[in-house]
Amino acid sequence: MIDNAGRIAIAKFPSSKYDEWDVAAWEGVALDLARQAGIRVPTSDVIRVADRNVLVVDRFDREGDRRIGYVSAITMLEASDGEQGSYLDIASVIEQQSPQATDDLHELWRRVAFSILISNTDDHLRNHGFLHAGGTAWSLSPAFDLNPDPQPGSKHLRTAIDGTETAASVRILMSVAPLFRLNERAAARVLAEVLTATRRWREIAAACDVPQTEVDRMAWAFEHPETELAQDITGG
Ligand SMILES: Nc1ncnc2c1ncn2[C@@H]1O[C@H](COP(=O)(O)OP(=O)(O)O)[C@@H](O)[C@H]1O
Ligand SMILES: [Mg+2]
Repeated sequence: MIDNAGRIAIAKFPSSKYDEWDVAAWEGVALDLARQAGIRVPTSDVIRVADRNVLVVDRFDREGDRRIGYVSAITMLEASDGEQGSYLDIASVIEQQSPQATDDLHELWRRVAFSILISNTDDHLRNHGFLHAGGTAWSLSPAFDLNPDPQPGSKHLRTAIDGTETAASVRILMSVAPLFRLNERAAARVLAEVLTATRRWREIAAACDVPQTEVDRMAWAFEHPETELAQDITGG
């Protein structure tokens, strides 16, 4: 679709038959929080269409009329559908392909921190990708498909943080920080920035007109033992 500013955008419609909560509105909240957490995300907006919320996201694979090559992490890693993969694998692709490897590694680590803190558990390899950066170079694409998961209990990510360990754990995240070119202090600083943003989730949800009943039902996605651990680590 073409958005109000004449740019090409992607519209994500709710599938009301299956959705137990307003998925489009919550994805909009997650994108706003990610932006505040210093993560590269496209401009996004939640609009009302026929009494339902629709998420509109600017395309990151266009520059005016020109198409920018996009390759998903599953393709880049020559992985199969449903194969788990690891953030360390994505980090190796960055090291080999990206002209801004340090920036992209920091960015990827920040995204994992964000996913743990908001319980974005559908972070499989198709939900990560690379944009052509000229010649043989590929850099990490902006983030997309970020969704808080309100299921109670401890969480697992779809992409492992360390080898095969999928537990959504701040401790494991901190332990791999050096592989993303972050020392302990720098990692704690990034974690603190992400936490500062994600703690505002109720405020941002209210700004996005999410009904109060849904806000309460979503609490477990944002308020859980890993958020508390992140607070301890960052002294927040
Ligand atoms: N802002 C965007 N610009 C360009 N391509 C995008 C953008 N967002 C998503 N995509 C592409 O569209 C696919 C589907 O989008 P996604 O948000 O993952 O939807 P779904 O919830 O259906 O998985 C992604 O895997 C990616 O290839
Ligand atoms: Mg997706």
